[in-house]
Amino acid sequence: MILTVTPNPSLDRTFVLNGLRLGELNRASTDTVEGSGKGVNVARVLHAAGVRTGIVLPAGGPEGAQLATLLEAEGLTYRVVATDAPVRTNVTLLEPGRTTKVNAPGAALTPADADALVAAVEDLAHGADWVVCCGSLPPDTPAELIARIVEAGRRAGAQTAVDASGPALLAAAEAGPDVLAPNADELSELTGRVFPPGGRPLVRAALDAAHTLAGDTGGGVLVSLGPDGAVWVDPESALHGSVTPVTPVNTAGAGDALLAGWLAGPPEPDGRLRNAVAWGTAACLLPSTAGDVATTARPARVRIDDLGVPAAGP
Ligand SMILES: Nc1ncnc2c1ncn2[C@@H]1O[C@H](COP(=O)(O)OP(=O)(O)OP(=O)(O)O)[C@@H](O)[C@H]1O
Ligand SMILES: [Mg+2]
Repeated sequence: MILTVTPNPSLDRTFVLNGLRLGELNRASTDTVEGSGKGVNVARVLHAAGVRTGIVLPAGGPEGAQLATLLEAEGLTYRVVATDAPVRTNVTLLEPGRTTKVNAPGAALTPADADALVAAVEDLAHGADWVVCCGSLPPDTPAELIARIVEAGRRAGAQTAVDASGPALLAAAEAGPDVLAPNADELSELTGRVFPPGGRPLVRAALDAAHTLAGDTGGGVLVSLGPDGAVWVDPESALHGSVTPVTPVNTAGAGDALLAGWLAGPPEPDGRLRNAVAWGTAACLLPSTAGDVATTARPARVRIDDLGVPAAGP
């Protein structure tokens, strides 16, 4: 079982538009709402692929009740840690060839909310193979919450993975999870290195930074690189997975599908990376994040290059 933790969940509202005109009235052709937050998305993709999942998230307000109703309707297994903080709403504007997102910050968790979330994670993590903590933290919530979630998962005997950014990513790195899953920007910010914009130089720079980070955490690092695929680094391997870049329909949730594909993949690093990149690519070609990406993913089309573990040192 894979347990995902979403400290700052959301209702995601998607408007489909023919063309966005800034500063003018725009009329959407469709308007949909789904329960979201990165951990929810990861669990949804895994669930659609037949992997047993659990979701834990803090939620309050009428929006929190709506979120629970939506997860229930999808047949997802979830536990809500009840708070007074209303669940935020994020907006996606989808045009042909372009995705615009407006994300709300979310409402702060109280220290008691944070304690209850950590206790729920530890409770549910018994018997879980993985505890996967994803996404942003609500404002004014100490970044150490991520480290506490990792430690709770570890105490319960699960492997741990984190997809976070900024101070939460830093706190996660210090907690040493089995897997960290930043994108290039997040890895650049964490390591203080400037990356080239794309292509072979980006892959090489991401590999070097991920190698240094993996040396610090003692675990693996999965770096998402958009059209340049993804890099996997652990103490024994340094791999690049890529496909011929596609023209995305919707890139929102591609990183979540990448991580889900990695978690659902076979145990060897190259097999996991192949599955991850195939699922990430498939997610880009689906109009929503509610994707059954496993059905359309084409792992055989993913090219895996062994980059060679860099020599010791930064
Ligand atoms: N244009 C593209 N062509 C082919 N594959 C793509 C493209 N864009 C993204 N991907 C695939 O999707 C994966 C995840 O995308 P991306 O790098 O945008 O994730 P992210 O920045 O972590 O996004 P998220 O906000 O979803 O976390 C990539 O690692 C890659 O495998
Ligand atoms: Mg990401």
